[in-house]
Amino acid sequence: MKHLLEISQLSCDDVKHLLARAQFFKQNSVQDYPQYPHQTMANLFYECSTRTRISFEMAAKHLGMHVVNVDIERSSESKGEMLEDTILTLFSMGIKTFVLRHQKNGCPKAIVSALPSGLHIINAGDGAHEHPSQALLDLLTITEYKPNLDALKIVVVGDLLHSRVANSLQHLCALMGVSDLVLVAPEQWYPRTLIYGRLTSSLSEALHNADVVMTLRIQNERLQSGEFLDINHYRQQYAITQKTIAWAKPDVMVMHPGPVNRGIELDSDVADGPRSSILEQVKNGVYMRMAILDTILSKTL
Ligand code: NCD
Repeated sequence: MKHLLEISQLSCDDVKHLLARAQFFKQNSVQDYPQYPHQTMANLFYECSTRTRISFEMAAKHLGMHVVNVDIERSSESKGEMLEDTILTLFSMGIKTFVLRHQKNGCPKAIVSALPSGLHIINAGDGAHEHPSQALLDLLTITEYKPNLDALKIVVVGDLLHSRVANSLQHLCALMGVSDLVLVAPEQWYPRTLIYGRLTSSLSEALHNADVVMTLRIQNERLQSGEFLDINHYRQQYAITQKTIAWAKPDVMVMHPGPVNRGIELDSDVADGPRSSILEQVKNGVYMRMAILDTILSKTL
């Protein structure tokens, strides 16, 4: 694996390797981790991020790498330099691994062909297209509690139209044979293309017998002008609350990629309650990103 650009580049065995490697990192301590002291990773984030950027940084540091956080607003791109030139400049200084978050759909895949073969690009979210490391850490979290994917009902609820998280998760559920994936949203937020699973606008129907519910953030910054959303109406129909979560199985896992709009798509008493796996997702994010970096640098796949 030279780059991680999208889930569809992976085979089922590749995913199994990444899950096993992440579990290895979770169960062992720093002295057992492979070290890459001559490697530097650059975080290139053109959109805001807390958990993704910092967990890549933590992951790299656990593996003995150096980390450079590029301050895009103060970089030469503010003087008009192209992204490819920024990467080439950093590559000339010896940086080979780039974690890229960009607002443009397909950006990481589009630039790799123009870049030298010795560098690695990891997609940390591109527009409304994909967020592969998030889907992989979500799968790691799910399989820890509910390993039989072929017997699972997973529900994804919220802004499917703008969600790169939902897109990568659909690809991954298809690849790994999740038996029932249900995507719930008001019709105005139905995705343009359904990758895997089935769509409904009924939360009660979707949550019936659900094993996992993944709540998505209402992405105000992606609502294009003219796209009206009545937040109160959304809450009444689609919020995950104590009342609506009771429609799912008693041991349902409540997940959210973060950041959470508390009291909008998800109530605090559910987000902080016993069924919530949200902080476990964050924790697993570091281990999965270690697995991704290690797999790339050790040329295992
Ligand atoms: C997501 C993202 O940025 O795509 N968050 C994350 O990376 N953990 C989801 C979101 O912003 O709603």
